[in-house]
Amino acid sequence: MKFTILTLFPNVINEYINTSIISRAIAKEKISVDVIDLRNFGKGARRNVDDTVYGGGDGMVITVPVLDEALASIENIQDANTHIIYLSPKGRVLSQKLSEKMSKEYEHIVLLTGHYEGIDERIFSLYNIEEISIGDYVLTGGELPALVLLDTITRLIPGVIKEDSSKNESFSNSLLEEPQYTKPEEYKGLKVPEILLSGNHSKIDEYRYEERLYTTLIKRPDLFKRYINENKLDINKVNEIITKKEGN
Ligand SMILES: C[S@@+](CC[C@H](N)C(=O)[O-])C[C@H]1O[C@@H](n2cnc3c(N)ncnc32)[C@H](O)[C@@H]1O
Repeated sequence: MKFTILTLFPNVINEYINTSIISRAIAKEKISVDVIDLRNFGKGARRNVDDTVYGGGDGMVITVPVLDEALASIENIQDANTHIIYLSPKGRVLSQKLSEKMSKEYEHIVLLTGHYEGIDERIFSLYNIEEISIGDYVLTGGELPALVLLDTITRLIPGVIKEDSSKNESFSNSLLEEPQYTKPEEYKGLKVPEILLSGNHSKIDEYRYEERLYTTLIKRPDLFKRYINENKLDINKVNEIITKKEGN
């Protein structure tokens, strides 16, 4: 999958994509990432990219010619397999389901990041752009949200991380992941649950599933309710598991 990121701060993006799983995904040619500096499309001697807001008010807005020329410079920008996303607090809120859908649906994702007060609205009339938010709060710029999207989609591309690692991850089936432990086996009197050391894989699977159910119930009752309804689970069986956990 190809990503193109348009930004006023290419260094922020480059720093991250040269690290960890993303850099490995690039090395394995699972993804490619092009970073376009919006400043290259700036106007005048100072390469201005923004201007004051019509109607008055504080802050600056990235101008429509800059945005238009930057998007037009991208090869195949109007192709059906290219999807343009503007990271915006006004957008549809990102979820694991949406990331999964995007990881399967598109060959090329273009991530447009704003700064200051945002971007000139007329760009939405020139291109088909989806707005996506990473949550109901306002950040200074779209770079972190773009990296969030890049990261969450990339780890869902087959071969980027071990399939087993993502299978039971939080949200992958409406449940949160169960608690995880590593060495040492005992620390300050705190022991790793014995079942995890037993080598009995079917018992371990059962234990982990019950832990996922319980963790979701305690931390995200909204998700728990959805999971019970979607999977038509027997409520008596669920109550049995909860009683067992609370007895421990
Ligand atoms: C300071 S914000 C602009 C906020 C805008 N004036 C508003 O009230 O909706 C600057 C940029 O940060 C990015 N941004 C801020 N919060 C975001 C969020 N929750 N999700 C995605 N992008 C966000 C957008 O790209 C936005 O153009």
